[in-house]
Amino acid sequence: MTRSLIIALGADHGGVTLKNRLAAVIAEAGHQVLDYGTDGPASVDYPDYAQAVCAAVAEKRADYGILVCGTGIGMSIAANRNPAIRCALVHDVTTARLTRAHNDANVLALGARIIGEEVALDILKTFLATDFEGGRHERRLAKINQITEQTP
Ligand code: RB5
Repeated sequence: MTRSLIIALGADHGGVTLKNRLAAVIAEAGHQVLDYGTDGPASVDYPDYAQAVCAAVAEKRADYGILVCGTGIGMSIAANRNPAIRCALVHDVTTARLTRAHNDANVLALGARIIGEEVALDILKTFLATDFEGGRHERRLAKINQITEQTP
């Protein structure tokens, strides 16, 4: 991890333990954490946390967002409803690297019941360390934005 970042975190009950571990590691690395919860094991609804984290990223109060639920699927679906968000559900370091390099992903979704903590930490480190490559990928992101503009 290089420059100091502001990272917004959110999780449901299925992801809260991993989210808290990621928050500690992010803070130890010298970054600022905006923790939108949840804070305990009580059952909650993941879209509420996806919405809060994505608003922070969209409004530039955070550089990146990280969302954790049981599978990461619900969080990623909810996150991508925000037109400013490019959320990637990632299970390995290769896709963590490529979604930053090619998709300029600004939100990372993780499935706490699918991947282990060590894999999640490696994904986090890779996601934060990888820059967007730009070039031909800019044109493709512009076309994604066009889909949003053309969808009623
Ligand atoms: C909660 O039981 C679970 O549905 C949630 O954590 C997530 O996996 C949804 O996609």
